Amino acid sequence: MHVLSVSSLKGGVGKTTVALGLASAAFARGLRTLVVDLDPQCDASTGLGAIGEFRETVADVLQNPKHNIVHRSIVSSTWGKVQSGHIDVMIGSPRALQFDTPNPTIRDVWKLEEALSRIEKDYDLVIIDTPPSINGLTRTAWVASDRVLIVSEPSIFSVVAADRAMRAIEELRKGLTPRLQALGVVINRMRPQSKEHTYRAQELQDMFKENLMTVLIEERATIQQAQGAARPIHTWPGDHAIELAKIFDEILAAALASFQEPYDKNRGKQDKRMSRISKIMRGQNLDAVLELESLQADSPLQALVPNTDTSLPTGPVTPVQLPLDPSKMSAIEQLEALASLNFEPADATWLEENKKDEG
Ligand SMILES: Nc1ncnc2c1ncn2[C@@H]1O[C@H](COP(=O)(O)OP(=O)(O)OP(=O)(O)O)[C@@H](O)[C@H]1O
Ligand SMILES: [Mg+2]
Repeated sequence: MHVLSVSSLKGGVGKTTVALGLASAAFARGLRTLVVDLDPQCDASTGLGAIGEFRETVADVLQNPKHNIVHRSIVSSTWGKVQSGHIDVMIGSPRALQFDTPNPTIRDVWKLEEALSRIEKDYDLVIIDTPPSINGLTRTAWVASDRVLIVSEPSIFSVVAADRAMRAIEELRKGLTPRLQALGVVINRMRPQSKEHTYRAQELQDMFKENLMTVLIEERATIQQAQGAARPIHTWPGDHAIELAKIFDEILAAALASFQEPYDKNRGKQDKRMSRISKIMRGQNLDAVLELESLQADSPLQALVPNTDTSLPTGPVTPVQLPLDPSKMSAIEQLEALASLNFEPADATWLEENKKDEG
């Protein structure tokens, strides 16, 4: 099972449209697909025909990702009535809003990952539609994801938001979940005749280079019609629908290829260690933990590494045996290692002398 989030930190740029387009491509390709509707507006659930009263939704899953609750929050999409295939949706709920706090804890952001691990064998692909912010819900989605696709319109604010999203993904990857990677940025609602759009598209190209998807999605009324009818774009009539379907096929192919990229074994190890450590730090605030990451460069442990430059006096300080080179450890691991060390009081005279030498 591979997990792809569709995000942007700006509203209305087409996250849900792209998530549904990719779901349609996956459905047409015969992949067992689950769409997780993490946006409290529930547009993805609507687009997949999951309308009505549901006893359990994604809000219950985020509250308690137990096996039964996860299963009861998932229903079949009505898309399956039009064409055979396997496409389900984890129902969205306005109640999910309560989890969209600006300061989620580590425990909060691992909830969806835990839920998806219970249905790992049931799906080939999970697509997560996220709300337009960097709060708890989007980060919960990212922590559960292998890849994130950023959607951007060719407009100034959207370009800025795409850049912020890419940075936020990188921050989370470094600090918490090494398996996470940006798939790239895709331009949506492009009007090739518009000078402004052409200019912004070029700007996105310069900014993101190989991280900009080679295909882009044009502004097409067909998309809105198919969405309004809760039908997959791949079964919608007309040339524009065929053209759009092809574009979503290509983006899906890029995602599937990216999932197959060799996974760095060291990363895998780090991944396991990190998830263990983040369990220890469950109650901690996510941002506080990520902030530690940026302190890594001048980490307190760095000062304890045996000095390898023999031209300098090493002094009477016994080098501390560290399990690993701190520069290769995450901030959380450094903290853990630091906490496990027993410090002898430093030799005060030697420290004083060294200070004098430096002065
Ligand atoms: N390529 C397109 N051509 C025409 N209409 C589009 C296109 N992409 C999106 N739209 C329309 O724009 C509106 C917003 O799109 P969508 O709901 O996908 O954005 P969103 O980023 O998910 O919004 P939100 O931030 O509210 O979740 C919808 O009415 C959708 O049908
Ligand atoms: Mg949306």
